[in-house]
Parts: sequence; structure tokens; C-alpha cells
Amino acid sequence: ALRRGHHHAPNSAPTPAPGASTAGPDALFQQPLRIPGREGLMADVHLRGPLALQSRVDGFNVFPGQPTPLWHYAGQWEGHAIANPVLHVAHGQTLQVSLDNRLQEATTVHWHGLVVDEANDGSGLHPVEAGMQRAYRIRVANRAGLYWYHAHPHQRTGLQVHAGLAGLLLVEDDEELALRKRLGLQWGDRDLPLLIADKQVDTANRLVYRSGADDWIGNRVLVNWTPEPFLEVVPGLYRLRLANVCNARVLRPAFLHEEQALEFHLIGTDGGLLAQPWPMEDLFLAPAQRADVLVDFSRLPPGARVVLRSLDYVPMENEDESGAFAPDPMGDHPAAEPMGAGLDLMQFCVAGCGDDVRGNGGRGAAGASGSRRAAAIPASLSSLPAPPDTRGWPVRPFRLHMDSQGAWFINGHNFHRDGHAPAFTVKRGTREVWELRNAMTSMPHPIHVHGVQFRVVERRISPQDVRSRQVAEGGLGPQDLGCNDTVLVWPGETVRIAIDFDQPFDGNQQYMLHCHNLEHEDMGMMLTFAVTD
Ligand code: C2O
Ligand code: CU
Repeated sequence: ALRRGHHHAPNSAPTPAPGASTAGPDALFQQPLRIPGREGLMADVHLRGPLALQSRVDGFNVFPGQPTPLWHYAGQWEGHAIANPVLHVAHGQTLQVSLDNRLQEATTVHWHGLVVDEANDGSGLHPVEAGMQRAYRIRVANRAGLYWYHAHPHQRTGLQVHAGLAGLLLVEDDEELALRKRLGLQWGDRDLPLLIADKQVDTANRLVYRSGADDWIGNRVLVNWTPEPFLEVVPGLYRLRLANVCNARVLRPAFLHEEQALEFHLIGTDGGLLAQPWPMEDLFLAPAQRADVLVDFSRLPPGARVVLRSLDYVPMENEDESGAFAPDPMGDHPAAEPMGAGLDLMQFCVAGCGDDVRGNGGRGAAGASGSRRAAAIPASLSSLPAPPDTRGWPVRPFRLHMDSQGAWFINGHNFHRDGHAPAFTVKRGTREVWELRNAMTSMPHPIHVHGVQFRVVERRISPQDVRSRQVAEGGLGPQDLGCNDTVLVWPGETVRIAIDFDQPFDGNQQYMLHCHNLEHEDMGMMLTFAVTD
């Protein structure tokens, strides 16, 4: 139902200028957003039995002109070739995926956010060597939500994820299905995933990556593997499930109409639905994090254009006196662009935004005559309990820092220098508070714990914090109120998370704790911990 050929496809799309849309947004947004469908990249797969995937490299038409070689998870589903499929599974269902590694190097499939035993977690502790196979079998214990899967080999995660090895996993349960019924928004139409990833792209449309940078910031951004896409929308409510699949860039998404932020509602985080919706105008979305939002286009006039922009922010405390960004002296930014530079991700056109739309008799024209009233947002979303009262829980402190040589550490531990043996042991069935302190003044760290979903219980914010207007009572923001598997710890900040190690798995397991800035991870900002009976 998408309009194609909005404009004539150019031979070379212009490169978006960071933070600037003054050139006229429609000159940039030429390609229709890829929607999950039956085949190709992001095909929908409603799993009923085992799925066989291969990790391999093929050319895809991502940018105008030459095809882009993408490393991806390929398979066949209902007679169609699929790549990095959107996997749909139900809570309680057994997810069975086999991997046949056709790459020239080891890889894995890590099931990011799933509560899972070590053997099926797909971390680099269990690499699948070139030419080898492995079967993952997971009884899905998570709440409904948007999770994802990606490659996770030691020291090559950044390269492989940047090259394309990432896909989405949507878990559903009864609460989710009840909400879908109330909202009445059809998946693939008004309920859409937005997989956002910035990439370094060369003039031959190849993705370029160099190991050893402190953070790999792209010069292009892909949404659903589409550069600078547009989506035609009806003037109504949409559910968008944002996933930050960037290697290192912390995004700050906002929906702008004529440079004014539209209010939207946050309804879910990494580990599923919040108890109630939160009105917001922008949020911070760190690498690996997801945000489930409701956006209401119903009060916009036909023809309106809404830009999904990652707003400017100052990611570091080491700004100069003018308040402008000063590059991290240890940093190695391949793009002449800091992490916090504004970036236009995609554009929404409310029905009728193109010259050729009015007469096309399509969905846009029908929707334009629809209701102008604001859509109803449900007052309650799920039965998610409030975060636990952690008084009396043991507190395990973690210090995040970098040494003078530029190596990254968690509690003085570097994965490559100090080895892969568990750095500590947690007793299964116990509950702990982990206190994450970012001892650096120059870099936010998105910290990810494997094998669990956790609750954020406290944030002690540094005085220079740029996010103060975002922060709710007690130092916590709306995104902290759900279940999470990745938490952003800003420079100078201390964040406490509560983890319940009552896992539905037996025996001794080894999991990973690491920074999800993939360059930090690959350079050793990672450790293994054991969960024992
Ligand atoms: Cu999404 Cu250990 O990774
Ligand atoms: Cu980090």
C-alpha cells in the first residue's frame, strides 16, 4: 500500500547534513520505508516450528546505485527468501533456530534481552566457527516486547553488527494481545518496528568498519535498512517500536512538525509494556535499547510532514565554555561528527503530502477524511508491578572507567587483558542490587546484562546533566520504570538496578555484563559472571 516513486529515484542520494534539515526535508526522504512483509530484509516470520538460518554475505539494494554487501541471517520461509527476519513468538513457546555459519570467521546469534540459559544465549563464550552449525533452543520466558538478535563473537561484535548481522524478535503474550485489540492498530500497517542503525558508507555503497575506534559513528542512517525513508501515514494513531541498533550512537528521538516537538506516549521499554503510558517529547535511546511509543498524527493537517529526528545533545561533560561539543581527546571519531549531533532519521507524510496523492484513491485519501479528534490512549497498559523495594538487598558495586592508555574497564577488569573466567559468582534464587558508577567525565555507557531483565531503582545524576527536564521524581525517567536489559549510565552518574536471579534454568550458567557501545565491548569493557546453584 506504499506509494512508490515519490520522486524520481536519484542516482546518488544526498548525504544528510548532521543536525540540519534546512535544505528542505523532502529532498532527502525519497525511499519508502521498508515494512515487514513476506520476503527479503525484515520479512515477518511467525514461528511455528524450527527455522534454519545461515550467516552469510550477499548484495542488497540499500542505496541507489550499486548493491551493498550485507552480512545477514538468511533463510527460507513459506517459499520466500528472507534476511534478518522479524521473528514473532509467543510467551511460553519454544524458539528453535539453527545457525549455519557460511562466513569466513566465527559468529553467533545472541538473543538480546531473553531470559535464557548460557548454552542458548549465543554470547561469544559459545562461538560458531566458520563452516560450523549450532542449534538454539529457547523456551520463551520473557514478557511480550520487542527484543532482538545479533552476532556476538569476542572482539568482532562491532564489525559484524555494523556489517548487518541483526534482526528483531517480537514476543507476544495475553496482555499484549489484549492491548492490540484495544488499540486496533494492525501490525505492518499502523504498528511498525523502526530498526535504526547508523553506518559508515563509502562512495561505492559499501559499509566500512575499522576495529580499534572508541566508537563507530555512521555517516548515514538506515531505518529498516532504508536510507532517509519516508512513510505515508493517515491522520491517526500509530504504534512505533524503536530499536537502536547503532554500534555506539545514543539517539534522542523526537517527532517534529514544523520544528515543534509532537507529544508522544511511551508505552513500553526493553522488556515490554509499562504499567501506564507516559507523555514525552523526546527520549534517549542508547544502543541496544528499545522504546514502544504511540504517536498521534490525527491533529495534523493533510500534507503535513513530520521528521523523526535524533535531537542534539551534549554527551560529555568536557564541553568548552561556549557549551559546544569538545571532542574527547582519547576519541577516534571517523565521521567528523560527534555522537550527540542532531540527525534526521526519517519522515512521515500525513496523507496528501505528495502532489500525486489526492487523486490516487488510496489509503491516504480515505484516511484524510477521517476523524480529526485526538486518538484515545489507554490509561493503563499492563499489570507490571512497581520496582521492588530493595532495602536490605546486597549491593554489588561496579565502576566503569578508562585508563590512561585508553583501555576500558569494569571494576578494573578488561575482558581481553584479564580473561574470560567469571569475575564473580551470584547464587541462583537470590536478589541483588548492582550499582553502576560511570567514573568517566567523557562518555555515556549503555550497560547490558545477559540472561535477565532488571528494574532500574535509583539514579544519582551528575550536576551537569543535560537531561534534567526529562527526569521524573527520584531521579528516574519514564524509561526507567519498565523492565530493561540495557541501562544508560551518563558521565558522572550512578545507577542502581535490581536483579532477581531466580532464573527458570538449572545448573551453573555463565553470563556476560558489558557495555553495549560495541567498540567498548570489543575492546574489553565486558566481563563474565557465574550464576550457580
Ligand atoms: Cu546485545 Cu551482549 O549483547
Ligand atoms: Cu561504554
